[in-house]
Amino acid sequence: MPFPKDFLWGGATSAAQIEGAYNVDGKGLSTADVMPIRKQGELREITIEVETEKFYPTHHAIKHYEYYEEDIALFAEMGFKVYRLSFAWSRIFPNGDDLEPNEKGLAFYDKIIDLCLSYNIIPLVTLQHFDTPLGLKKYGFWKNRIVVDLFVKYSETVMQHFKGRIRHWLTFNEINNMSTMPWNAGGIALSASEEEKMIAAFHQFIASAKVVKLAHEIDECNQVGMMYNGHFSYPNSSHPEDIQGNENFQNQMLFYADVQVRGKYPEYKLKEMERLNIFLPIKAGDEQILFEGRVDFISFSYYLTHVCGRETKGILKGLNGLETGYKNPHLKQSSWGWPINPQGLRFALNTLYYRYEKPLMIVENGLGAIDKIEDDGVINDDYRIDYLQKHLLEIEKAIDMDGIPVMGYTSWGPIDLISASNGEMSKRYGFVYVDVDDYGKGTYRRFKKKSFYWYKEVISSNGESLR
Ligand code: BG6
Repeated sequence: MPFPKDFLWGGATSAAQIEGAYNVDGKGLSTADVMPIRKQGELREITIEVETEKFYPTHHAIKHYEYYEEDIALFAEMGFKVYRLSFAWSRIFPNGDDLEPNEKGLAFYDKIIDLCLSYNIIPLVTLQHFDTPLGLKKYGFWKNRIVVDLFVKYSETVMQHFKGRIRHWLTFNEINNMSTMPWNAGGIALSASEEEKMIAAFHQFIASAKVVKLAHEIDECNQVGMMYNGHFSYPNSSHPEDIQGNENFQNQMLFYADVQVRGKYPEYKLKEMERLNIFLPIKAGDEQILFEGRVDFISFSYYLTHVCGRETKGILKGLNGLETGYKNPHLKQSSWGWPINPQGLRFALNTLYYRYEKPLMIVENGLGAIDKIEDDGVINDDYRIDYLQKHLLEIEKAIDMDGIPVMGYTSWGPIDLISASNGEMSKRYGFVYVDVDDYGKGTYRRFKKKSFYWYKEVISSNGESLR
């Protein structure tokens, strides 16, 4: 049996992409709430404040705030062992810097967590998933060290409140998105300088490390992971300069994991910052903070692979569906142009494990596709089953043939949700269909897709049904 018997099967969502109720029960605005739906071929607009004539997908999302009981019951019906969700910081501290937490925000997550536990589903909570409180704008968001303390206070509040009920945490979703989607990662403009992005990332590293240490002090059973956006890449040719160019790209991404896993900046990054005249606002004691706050495990998302080389330009700029380096002629693409590469997942697991030797968890993977609901309410998403099946079989090989300890797998968007990169609803990932269109029109009724029954079988057979 390649999949260990305690393998954590489940699904993953984020607060802003499912909850809606963006201003209900005391919730404050977040950076996700000022992103109107993206127009085809354009970069995503950020309006800084809510403009009445614009449509903001997060404001209703899939109304999970109302439908959470039904949604979690569906996850339980599929047999989930784990559910990865995120807390909206702005639901708990509406402005990010409030003195006291919003009790109604905590009460909402009490209901969610207790419901998961009643189904024996382990909650895995991301503390910040693309939704920094908008109230922190006055400080410059993550560019300001003040935000480190505010994040630690928020984390301490929820870790104390949920002590004994939540033992699996992730600090920042896809922390390396500070280089690719900095607004999502921490309220930093895409046009910000490299130095500003590196300072914001440095503050997130310090914040994450402090929270890891704190989590262990609050409850020795707490396990805290990092969350890496799986930007894995192949060289464009065997030319040494392409190999080097590809290596440089990988390192620009993997340096985030180096810091969080090894507790210090790698030499190649320090040299690069020196060349670019980038100075980090390091304080006495910071080195120790980073070292003491090394993560317990590595989690990552995996959707695609890139192809990089000596002339790959722009790959780190605006990677919100617009640029993925060179085209890989050997791979088919999704309807959104994301190359589909199941074998790349085994490559990713090997790269991460043999670089860090930490337990790994795939906390996002899936196919964004247009689904068609038939007149009788059936959705035949065989393409999604095919995608997931092939990826899961590669995980099986990584466990069975490469000896990699994989803790679990949470598919992205087990229920349809709004896209993080473009705000569309039509880019669907779910096993459960939600009847709502890109502009929030629909009944919001939930329907089980064909993949719902397939995934249920995968879980109940602990992966045996894949073969
Ligand atoms: C990851 C994010 O980058 O990719 C998710 O953590 C996101 O929030 C997912 O939804 C898929 O991307 P998209 O753009 O299809 O929503």
